[in-house]
Amino acid sequence: MNTIAKTIEWVDGSLRIVDQVRLPLELLYLELKDYRAVIEAIKTLAVRGAPAIGIAGAYAVALAVKEALLLSVDEREDFVRRALEEIEGARPTAVNLSYAVQIQRVIVEGVDVDDVLFARLVDSAGEVHERDKMMCQAIGVNGAELVGQGATALTICNAGALATGGIGTALGVLYVAHEQGKLKRVFSCETRPLLQGSRLTCWELGQAGIDVTLIVDSVAGTLMKSGQVDFVIVGADRIASNGDTANKIGTYNLAVLAEAHGIPFYVAAPETTFDRTLERLPEKIIEERSPEEVTCGFGKRTAPEGVRVYSPAFDITPSELISAFVTDLGVTAGGRGL
Ligand code: MRU
Repeated sequence: MNTIAKTIEWVDGSLRIVDQVRLPLELLYLELKDYRAVIEAIKTLAVRGAPAIGIAGAYAVALAVKEALLLSVDEREDFVRRALEEIEGARPTAVNLSYAVQIQRVIVEGVDVDDVLFARLVDSAGEVHERDKMMCQAIGVNGAELVGQGATALTICNAGALATGGIGTALGVLYVAHEQGKLKRVFSCETRPLLQGSRLTCWELGQAGIDVTLIVDSVAGTLMKSGQVDFVIVGADRIASNGDTANKIGTYNLAVLAEAHGIPFYVAAPETTFDRTLERLPEKIIEERSPEEVTCGFGKRTAPEGVRVYSPAFDITPSELISAFVTDLGVTAGGRGL
């Protein structure tokens, strides 16, 4: 399938990304010329989605080394070490960011900070990017096996081409099922408060000619009760060894509802999203976002000044609520069973 825009691209020594803050109103690109600009783009969600921020982080390390070359030889190593920490800390939930930074750290450690290192890091980031593209394709093909003829899917947030280096994870499955003529329709949860579902998923699926219907997040239960959803499919930011899965806030609600209505609930992600260092997911990996995103979303105040806000960006869905994991390696049963 032809993705609509190149979400991330390395062009003439800088990182070009689709500015996802501006979608769906305008398709604009940002040229990120130094690593701090990449961190800012990750924090503001100009680039977002677990695999995409991993790829951006890998390129950011290369940009940090490029900047270090302007310093004296004595200062370079320290500068790069600090930059690696800053990049890794830009967002805490997705394992992809620390995973990609770790790949780059191995290359950086113990070698001179010079042009050769810069070139190696650019190549390595390109490999992270290319691998992600291939993994998305494999996820799509593997997951499409689970999609019945004429099926309707429900998804949340955006786990598509805008969130990855390829066709996406959850949406990758939908793209392949669509190509195979099996997918009837997709319901996209709006995804409060930053509206990745309405702004990005509806835009992306619409561009691909897929029949998509936007719902307010709280409509999901009613929709499932009325028998209009055949399966739920979501992406993941981090999966513990026990199968518990961190993904966009609201994912857990959908998993509870899906189980209550006997609807399969699938998690689609690259095998590398499994964080084997963690038996279970600690709450501390869950990012909390600023109150203004809730009280004053997109510039319009919708809550009284000074109200207390709790706004976790992600939640954790226990494996017992997950029917299956779709990865680039295949389909495996979750705790709920296939
Ligand atoms: O806050 P976001 O937009 O980065 O959240 C993204 C998600 O929760 C996605 O579902 C997840 O990163 C998987 S993207 C393939």
